[in-house]
Amino acid sequence: MRQAAPLPGFPRLHDVRVLSRSVLTGPVTEVRHPLVQHKLGLLRDTSTDTHRFRQLVNELTLLLTYEATKHLATEDAEIETPLEAMTAQRISGKKVAVCPILRAGMGMLDGVLSLIPVARVGFIGLYRNEETLEPVEYYVKLPDDLSDRDVILLDPMLATGNSTAAAVELVKAAGASSVRLIALIATPIGIERIHRDHPEVAIVVAGIDRELNERGYIVPGLGDAGDRLYGTK
Ligand code: URA
Repeated sequence: MRQAAPLPGFPRLHDVRVLSRSVLTGPVTEVRHPLVQHKLGLLRDTSTDTHRFRQLVNELTLLLTYEATKHLATEDAEIETPLEAMTAQRISGKKVAVCPILRAGMGMLDGVLSLIPVARVGFIGLYRNEETLEPVEYYVKLPDDLSDRDVILLDPMLATGNSTAAAVELVKAAGASSVRLIALIATPIGIERIHRDHPEVAIVVAGIDRELNERGYIVPGLGDAGDRLYGTK
């Protein structure tokens, strides 16, 4: 069956789902676009090898970045095409800082930079203290002008949300007032965890999965994102 053309300026309903379920406590967008869902299925598949997995993470992040940057302000810019003068649009306002959470977030970095090559990059390294289960910083290097930038955090798997919430705190403590998160897969509990402390943080994801298992893996999920990206284990 042929689909009607979308109304100008409006995405098709199935392309983007802005969730309003009562369990969800802040802005969450699950991108239902067929390309995103197709690539997410390939990414999850256990037979996808490391090389292809990396490519898919890159492609998915690029597609999610498109959604996560739709708020960026634009301004008129006078330009000349080869044929005549015209008023074009260019991005104005705050610049972007993209901050991957190590190590798996690194696999998403190029996807954002390929669309926003002038973005500054910050790095956030956190590990979990096995006794307290609290996230502990081991490496943090952020641009020094975060208050002038829209911050995009990258964390492929939003599981419990504890380390991502800590990363949001870190960038806010460094001056950021505009923070959003791109994840590939999230759990409802992880989303709630972020929004408990940071209800204004917009989350863009490719999929929201059922639950965490007893080992802290997202199910159905895709396994350990870092191991699958880097071929460890
Ligand atoms: N981190 C991962 O890499 N995978 C999960 O399922 C949960 C957290």
